[in-house]
This record gives sequence, structure tokens and C-alpha cells, in this order.
Amino acid sequence: MKKVDIHTTLDVYEGIHELAEQDQSLMQQAIDARGRAYAPYSSFSVGCALLLENGEVITGNNQENAAYPSGLCAERVAIFYAGSRFPGVAVKKLAITAGPKDNSLTKPVPPCGACRQSIAEYENNQGTPIQLLFMGAAGKVAKSSSLKDLLPLVFDRDYL
Ligand code: THU
Repeated sequence: MKKVDIHTTLDVYEGIHELAEQDQSLMQQAIDARGRAYAPYSSFSVGCALLLENGEVITGNNQENAAYPSGLCAERVAIFYAGSRFPGVAVKKLAITAGPKDNSLTKPVPPCGACRQSIAEYENNQGTPIQLLFMGAAGKVAKSSSLKDLLPLVFDRDYL
């Protein structure tokens, strides 16, 4: 038997003001998208903005449904739209902001497991890392240099 040690490193910024200009602009677009979320059941709104290598920015937000499981997270709304509108164009960065509608949450909110798995599909296919930036409604921003940092033991097509 041998132990396998898996490490994750994140950069944590004190606030959006500490980010480089491009990251700040992307997070601002995620904040704007969060304001358009449709979250009447959870009152937890999420916004996402992703930057493609062709310079396009795609935004998304959570879309809930009276039949709860029929709703979809912001990250998947955005990345599925990117995949459908610009197939084969690499995703460079993805910014997420999330929290209850009263904006009380100030700790970084990472994407849920299903969203990580969905983002991994695109990262694996494109062969280049997707940077992830995530925050609450305000406050600290965490940044990972690859989806692999958030989902190290990913299930991908190599197992099929
Ligand atoms: N949600 C997202 O949009 N992204 C996540 O990564 C986690 C959760 C949404 C789903 C639901 O509309 C609300 O947040 C509460 O779970």
C-alpha cells in the first residue's frame, strides 16, 4: 500500500479590486448576470461569466423551476451556451459570484460538483486549463489555475 497525496492551491484575493483588469471585468460581468438570475425558490442567486479564446464573453445565471430538479446552475447555463454557440472555441476563464439575494454572503462560493464535472468535459477536450474565479456576493475572491484544482480525481472519457 502507498499513500497518494493530492494538493490543491488557490490564490485568494481580498476583493475584486485586487484582481488584474481582465479578471475584474469578467467578475463584474458575472455580478451583472447574477442580478438577472431567476431564483424565486431558493432566493440564492448565482452569476457566471466566461471568457473564450476568441474574446467573446458568455454570461449565465441560475434558472430555477417549480419542478425543482428541472432548474439549472449558472455555470452550466453559461458553459453549455458557449459550447452550443462557439463549438471548439477554448474557454480561458470562468468567473462566478453567488449568494442569498440579501448579499450577506462574503465567502467565496465554489461551483457545485455537477458543474465541476461539466466544466471538466470542456477543459479535457480543449487540452488547456480553465482558470476559475469565485466569490460570494462580495468580499474575498478565490482563483484556481485549472478546474483540476477543484476536481482532482475527475471521471472523463478515458475511463469509457
Ligand atoms: N447554484 C448554481 O447556480 N451554481 C452552483 O454551483 C451551486 C448552486 C444554484 C442552483 C439553485 O438555483 C441555487 O443555486 C441554490 O442551490
